Amino acid sequence: MLPLIKVGLPESNKLMPMLEQVLYSGMLAEGEPVYEFERQFARHFGLDRAVAMSSGTAALHAALVLAGVAAGDEVITTSMTAEPTNVVILQIGAIPVFADVDISSGNLDPADIAQKITKKTRAIVVVHYAGIPVRLAEIAEIAQRHGIPLIEDCAHALGARYNDKGIGCVGDFAIFSFQAIKHMTTIDGGVLTFKDESLLRAAKKFRWFGLEKGIPRTEVDITSVGYKYNMHNVAATIGLAQLDVIDNVISRHQANGHFFDEHISSISGLSVPTFDATALPSYWLYTVFSDDFADIEKRLAEVGVAANKLHRPNHYHSIFKPYAGELPQLEKYYQRMIHVPCGWWVTDDDREKIVDALKRG
Ligand SMILES: Cc1ncc(COP(=O)(O)O)c(C=O)c1O
Repeated sequence: MLPLIKVGLPESNKLMPMLEQVLYSGMLAEGEPVYEFERQFARHFGLDRAVAMSSGTAALHAALVLAGVAAGDEVITTSMTAEPTNVVILQIGAIPVFADVDISSGNLDPADIAQKITKKTRAIVVVHYAGIPVRLAEIAEIAQRHGIPLIEDCAHALGARYNDKGIGCVGDFAIFSFQAIKHMTTIDGGVLTFKDESLLRAAKKFRWFGLEKGIPRTEVDITSVGYKYNMHNVAATIGLAQLDVIDNVISRHQANGHFFDEHISSISGLSVPTFDATALPSYWLYTVFSDDFADIEKRLAEVGVAANKLHRPNHYHSIFKPYAGELPQLEKYYQRMIHVPCGWWVTDDDREKIVDALKRG
């Protein structure tokens, strides 16, 4: 079966010598490989800075806290995402306020974000779902007009671009995830980036119990609580190996995505996501809309291709029910959508096969 998602790692003859070197270096915790990964990652994706963390979830937690979100504050967010985006809001004791989505992309609808802003709104979290940039220009304008920090969850969107800049450059904060099945993995890991350089010290303390590295342990003073959210040298080494091959991986996702944009949109009864003209998605997944998603799933299974919805709108979970509200566009989107494989493992033959099967549906 051609899988919907797949773990990608560099060739073993490249990765294993690097791993062997770091594993027996005697330096496993956060050290120079982590700092080198941060420098290279930021340079590669055009970010001002990168603070490496143990996961995308840890980076999101840091982003929310550094944005000033505390217990009782409201955070405008999307339900159409993987659960970590919203579980972390609850972990802080803040209140997720779900805005509705744009039916043609599954991404947050700027107009509904504007409607959901109250005096208690402390941050807006957007998710570039499936690798498609949200309507960032409009959303950033709303956030700025109200003086509310904008956090971009780029977990699905590594390598996407907006206004010819790397994704993650518009919001006040952005996070990336290197969990197993993302464009790039460090097994588990994440990056936090942000515009305000003066937050760098606080971000680094946040990922290490509140301790400041470089000050002797017998003298250092913890003044605010931090977590054990650091990336370690082994994960960073895998990340460094990935950075050498990531452009090829992302371009293949994009080439397959463009192929589907062209060939699926013309099939009667089907439609595909739309996005801003200034956006270049990174197509982590490819989303197809129809009146009968189960038929698509069946047709593709018949030719050995996995397709499914992958995520569950978060407000369907019991823990989010108290915050659910009405999300009519999301309900329609979720009813009509299905994801099909689009990643680096999808060959020219595979993508032809997918389009042919969809034509027969
Ligand atoms: C949209 C989204 N946000 C956040 C995360 C959290 O990332 P991680 O698994 O690295 O903690 C994920 C990944 O699972 C995700 O898909």
